[in-house]
Amino acid sequence: MTNTGTGPGPITPDGSPVDFYLLLGPGGEPEIVAQATPAGGTVLELGAGVGRVTHALVERGFAVVAVDESPEMLARVRGARTVLARVQELRLEERFDAVMLASQLVNVVDDALRHELLAACARHVKPGGAVLIQWMPADAHDRWHAGMGRQDGAVTITMAAVEEVSPGIFHATMRYACGPREGEEGEERVWTQSFSSRRLGDDALSAELAGAGLRLERFLTEDRTWVLAVPA
Ligand SMILES: C[S@@+](CC[C@H](N)C(=O)[O-])C[C@H]1O[C@@H](n2cnc3c(N)ncnc32)[C@H](O)[C@@H]1O
Repeated sequence: MTNTGTGPGPITPDGSPVDFYLLLGPGGEPEIVAQATPAGGTVLELGAGVGRVTHALVERGFAVVAVDESPEMLARVRGARTVLARVQELRLEERFDAVMLASQLVNVVDDALRHELLAACARHVKPGGAVLIQWMPADAHDRWHAGMGRQDGAVTITMAAVEEVSPGIFHATMRYACGPREGEEGEERVWTQSFSSRRLGDDALSAELAGAGLRLERFLTEDRTWVLAVPA
């Protein structure tokens, strides 16, 4: 099943609605990066989108190179060098103190693509540097159910549907809604984003990292969604 999206504005090849991502602010990512990256260090952000995290990293003093395959996403990035490319095809000259692969891109269903994404992380990190991966742990997949969600400012994020379509392969549809702010004219905007995700256990993740020349060092967050990996 391919990833798709619907709603106003451009939609990226992976189904991400650009105008929706413009509405979101950063979460705890800058602190997570700072745990493993020297102050003022270089960060390669893979799948950077509109710069939701990039901008917070730049403000914190990191020198960021933002990579994305979507020109509509990258056009919104400020304060960082942008590179329009597919992560799996990226071959930059330089090496970085930290390489970030966020947004659960590592849970992609295609095993060969997952390997290529991790290989891109490995070939761009400095010796002694950090690879920071945001994944969806197995137990988090097990808790997925239709109707779960959260509020982020004016935005309501809901898992509208989820199904385990074959063992360990989930297909989910997210619904994003944003009403007009108080005193504003206009109608509610609604987007959907449908994606597939492979349930990986800790051992499988370690093996995938090892296959790309990386070693799982530790989890950086209590919910274990951020992983620190280092060159093996
Ligand atoms: C869900 S958005 C999240 C963006 C950003 N990481 C954030 O958290 O705000 C995922 C982004 O990854 C990009 N992306 C997905 N797969 C990619 C690939 N193989 N190569 C380059 N960009 C990719 C999409 O174009 C999209 O901008």
